[in-house]
Amino acid sequence: MLTTEKIAHFSHSFRHGLSYYLFSKHGKGFGIHSPFAYKLISETFLPAQTDRLLLQTINQLYKTLASAKAKIKNNSNGSRVRTKSNLTTVGKLNKTSSLKPKYIALLSKLIEKHNLTRILELGTCCGVTSTCLASINNKNKITTIEKDVDRAHRARYEFEKCGLQNVQLLETDFNSGISALKKEKAGFDLIFIDGDHSYEGTLAYYHQLKDMVSENGVMVFDDIYWSKGMTKAWRTICNEQDKGITIDIFQMGLLFIRPQQAKEHFTIRF
Ligand SMILES: C[S@@+](CC[C@H](N)C(=O)[O-])C[C@H]1O[C@@H](n2cnc3c(N)ncnc32)[C@H](O)[C@@H]1O
Repeated sequence: MLTTEKIAHFSHSFRHGLSYYLFSKHGKGFGIHSPFAYKLISETFLPAQTDRLLLQTINQLYKTLASAKAKIKNNSNGSRVRTKSNLTTVGKLNKTSSLKPKYIALLSKLIEKHNLTRILELGTCCGVTSTCLASINNKNKITTIEKDVDRAHRARYEFEKCGLQNVQLLETDFNSGISALKKEKAGFDLIFIDGDHSYEGTLAYYHQLKDMVSENGVMVFDDIYWSKGMTKAWRTICNEQDKGITIDIFQMGLLFIRPQQAKEHFTIRF
């Protein structure tokens, strides 16, 4: 059923989606003068859409995960899933909550091209993105945080089923997980924030995590046009930068913290 909240989310995303398709720069990099941004787009964004083997691998894994019939509690827990029934299937939850294959391919290309091996994901759900990233390259060391016991349990099951030794799941809320990682003095090359899609939450995680990203690392914020709060959080993050590159691809925002790079912002068609 359409609730006022759903209509508000839909109309917010629709308005911004329209302006994105009208004004975003060409995904082939034409008209982009910054050498770093041009290289990034031609070596990462384009290949993520054309690397057949990569896309095939991700699609196959995704298909299996998105067709799992096991039942699981449907608890919205700050994710974008908002339905009334108490039970759903793991497959349905994966389809509605997880990143779509083309975006997983983009993360994977970013990791490969920029040698980003230490990855942190906030929001595991049942482990779709973490399973794909860990399976594609066993050099990727993934730490992922999930507070929902049933989802964490299912994600562990997927990791074991795929024989993955390179994923560490912290079954806790983001704040406690981040505090534990800070105590260990952990550092990451790619941080993917995909849970608790609120203005306050997103900004708080950004501030807690920005010092844990390596010099040429990247922070990725999913669902930046999901709600007014998420868009406001993304814009605040972009405005706070005095160096580095921010890229808006509508589904997600990418922040390349590069102290040597003058501040630039791009909206790229992906
Ligand atoms: C959108 S889903 C993550 C999907 C996953 N990144 C993927 O692409 O496969 C968001 C997850 O974040 C979890 N979550 C939300 N807020 C959280 C919090 N404060 N602490 C821990 N987990 C949280 C939810 O339970 C949900 O499973």
